[in-house]
Order: sequence, then structure tokens, then C-alpha cells
Amino acid sequence: MQYQTITVEPLSPVIGAEISGVDLAQPLGNQTFSEIHDALMTHQVIFFRDQDLTLDQHKAFGRRFGELHIHPTAPAPEGHPEILTVHADENSERVAGQGWHSDVSCDKEPPLGSILHIQKAPESGGDTMFASAYAAYDALSEPMKAFVGGLQARHESKHRYFGRNKRTGTMRDGENVYPEATHPVVRTHPVTGRKGLFVNAVFTTRIEGLKEKESRALLDFLNDHINTPEFHCRFAWRANSIAFWDNRCVQHHAVWDYYPQTRHGHRVTIQGDRPF
Ligand code: SIN
Repeated sequence: MQYQTITVEPLSPVIGAEISGVDLAQPLGNQTFSEIHDALMTHQVIFFRDQDLTLDQHKAFGRRFGELHIHPTAPAPEGHPEILTVHADENSERVAGQGWHSDVSCDKEPPLGSILHIQKAPESGGDTMFASAYAAYDALSEPMKAFVGGLQARHESKHRYFGRNKRTGTMRDGENVYPEATHPVVRTHPVTGRKGLFVNAVFTTRIEGLKEKESRALLDFLNDHINTPEFHCRFAWRANSIAFWDNRCVQHHAVWDYYPQTRHGHRVTIQGDRPF
């Protein structure tokens, strides 16, 4: 791939690339937008350094890629319902994004991608790990690909979101219904046409049509499989770094190894479409 306006340096041949030569606080020209989009399609998660963005600039960057998604339960800064605050400090009992997952896969139309801007990073630790769902699918044997390729899985959220976020008002829909959905276990990416595994340890609760024990065993196998280091890259944050991941083909896991230090940032999430 030839890039004219940005520089793209892969973190590994499988997943991840760091992009330089662009100021995301400025409106993106069409050529630069198209090159960033190409880099995301090729590398699945892309990283930027030294980006000083206001909440409005962060949202404007996200909106180049689609409508913004509103999280069903997470609190947002006043006046910015499309922003999700990511914060951990000495008082935290848990952090956002622990455990391998694709964001809000319990939604019927789960997010296309997420853009996380970290403003305060711990002195060390606090990395985010990313796994390629394409690489995980490609590494399966042909009989296993054929088996899982015909299956659907249930994704639920109540077990994850209930009681979290100290929410006292209503949820996104105003009715306090925790989202859930059924999606194919193997998802075809609508842009690249590549297949990837689309079950995860946080939201996927069962495989439809299998007995309980079979479903548990298969989910345990697939969740363990995504944990293979050869499918991964790992990003070490500094203040004003950005990670932009494609939830249709990437899982991520936020590593909480920095307690009691503070880590703080904001995420903008882009609305996706129905997986097929
Ligand atoms: C998330 O969006 O899941 C949180 C990721 C992170 O904090 O690194």
C-alpha cells in the first residue's frame, strides 16, 4: 500500500500500525481520510502519538468514519453523550475494558470501531492488548472452520453492566433494557471480505443450538484461542496517544497492572451495522 500523506509503520505483520504525519485536531482532507481508512482496514488497529484533542475535535474525527454510538450504560461528560470516559485511580475497583472483548457486541448493530484518546497515562503499565480475529479464524483447521462457520452465538450485557458505572438514571433507551443480540460466530468483514471470529469472553454467553456443556466447551476453546500471542500486538500509552480499533475484526483487553496510579482518557465509538 502506498501512502502519500501519512507514514504507516506496522507493529507486527499480523496486527497494528503506528501512523505519523497527521494532526487529528484539524479537519481531515479526503486523501488523508482515505489513507487512514486504508491503514485501518489493513492493520485492524492504528495508533497515533502527540494528539492534543478537545472533546469536539475527538468527535469530529470519529464522525468522519460514521455516526457516533452511545453506550447503553456508561456515564458521559456533561453535554457529550457520545463520549465514554475511561478512568482509573486509587479508588477504582475495576477498570473499563478488562477481559478480551469487542466493544458492546451485545448491541444488534455493534460498533464499527472505537477511538480511545488517553490524556493521562501511568508512569509504566496500563497497556492495551489487541488481538486479530482474522488471524484467530485463519489459524483454525478446515473442519473447525466449517463447524463454527455455521453457528450463531448469543451476546448479552446485564451480567457485565448491571451495578457498574454507579448509574442512577435510566439507560440509553430510557427503559433500562440491557442490550442482547444473536450474531454469527464467524463474521465477514463488510469492507475487506475477510472472515474473523466474533465471540468474546465478556459478552458471549452461549452458542445457539448446542447443548449447554457443548456450548461452554466451544466458547472456552475459542476464548482461549484468541489469547494466542501470535495474534496480538500491545500498545504502550503516553499522554495524548490515540488507538483506533476496528471492532469487526479486533478484540482488545485493557491491562490493569498500574494500581494505584491514575489513567484517564475518553473514547468515541462509531456505530456499526448488523454482522453477517
Ligand atoms: C475499552 O475501551 O475497552 C478500554 C480500553 C482501554 O482502556 O485500554
